[in-house]
Amino acid sequence: MEAQTAYARAVEVLKLNDRGSYTVPTDGLYPFQWNWDSCLTALGLRHYDEARAWTEIDTLFDHQWDDGMVPHIVFHVPSDQYFPGPDVWSTGRAVPTSGITQPPVAGFAAKRIFDASGDRTMAAERARRLLPKIDAWHKWFFTNRDPHGEGLVAILHPWESGRDNSIDWDTALDRVPTEGVGDYTRRDTQHADPAHRPTKAQYDRYLWLVQCFRGLGWDNTRLHDASPFRVVDPGFNAILIRSCSDLADLADALGESEIAADNRARAEKGLAAMESLWSERHGQYLCRDRTINALIDSASIGGILPAFASIPAARAAVIARSVERQSQAVHFSVPSHDPADSRFESSRYWRGPVWLVTNYMIADGLAAAGEAAVAALIVRSSLELIEKSGFAEYYDPISGAPCGGGRFTWTAAMVMEFVKHGEPPA
Ligand code: DGY
Repeated sequence: MEAQTAYARAVEVLKLNDRGSYTVPTDGLYPFQWNWDSCLTALGLRHYDEARAWTEIDTLFDHQWDDGMVPHIVFHVPSDQYFPGPDVWSTGRAVPTSGITQPPVAGFAAKRIFDASGDRTMAAERARRLLPKIDAWHKWFFTNRDPHGEGLVAILHPWESGRDNSIDWDTALDRVPTEGVGDYTRRDTQHADPAHRPTKAQYDRYLWLVQCFRGLGWDNTRLHDASPFRVVDPGFNAILIRSCSDLADLADALGESEIAADNRARAEKGLAAMESLWSERHGQYLCRDRTINALIDSASIGGILPAFASIPAARAAVIARSVERQSQAVHFSVPSHDPADSRFESSRYWRGPVWLVTNYMIADGLAAAGEAAVAALIVRSSLELIEKSGFAEYYDPISGAPCGGGRFTWTAAMVMEFVKHGEPPA
């Protein structure tokens, strides 16, 4: 497929899923606004309607909680297509939201849109409005999810990572009880192949955690210590660190020196602390189970994603070699789990499949670290997947088959970014 054809089809997908002031990830499977989907979708929207791109992020932040948290789902309209819906979350908000958060890409997205804006006045005005809100979210993370000031934050639910059923969570999730969860009907497996989705045993634990946090009145000052699931994910933290340093640059450009200094300090402390997660044996970073204070022996894409932050050049080079090694084992890069691990599953959600959003962040970071050839390999693989299998939610890295939902918004947005940034070198 010609790059321009792929681009035009991507625009069609975005328009199809546009609900006016926000975009759904895909019709049916995900009928509401999701946090990191929206911020990454804004990067696609900006190419044909910059004002609409800012609105996508603004709409999400209109539903920011008073304590600074930005929820992972905003239930703008009723729909019985998705479970768990607003009644399960019961967060007590006028427009219902979930009660957990998601990878904080907003700071990164806002800077990227601002930097390339064709309308400097509008960009400055829109960015200035968002700046304190994104800053409040970053502050919320370090206050509520890093209560002992380690410099790295914990996720309290696998859904917060965005990598719902990663092998990274298996052991920690085993400690989450299932008693009292009750009966429920999943809707995801009615829209997508159950073999591509998390298992019932995982869903029982996802729901137990939601019920536990709901029982604590969604009081974020209590959830961290009360949760049996507390994991420090290097990928999640790398996204937060990148957003902190991008927000600091944006704040400097807008003359907001206090926000700049606070976010630069957060990024620096996080980068230093990230070193404690490095694994020489795996050639990447690993998660740490904060409940038992031990590294988790699981080489997932979560430990490759730190390339997206300003990690030391030597670390980025080793990660680039790990990506090359994994790429030789599959046909399409970057698998969400190391194919050499016996637990790898090529078509089950985050246990092996390729996702274009993680490809985008890894390629961006590796290119900045001087690893242009590996970055180009990732971009090429992404565009080959589109040509072979269309705009799927994710892809089997061995066969290239489409998995999960179809006509997927953020996949399309990433294609627009890849095409606009030019053809990768052969
Ligand atoms: C889902 O429902 O699959 C989502 O990933 C949770 O946000």
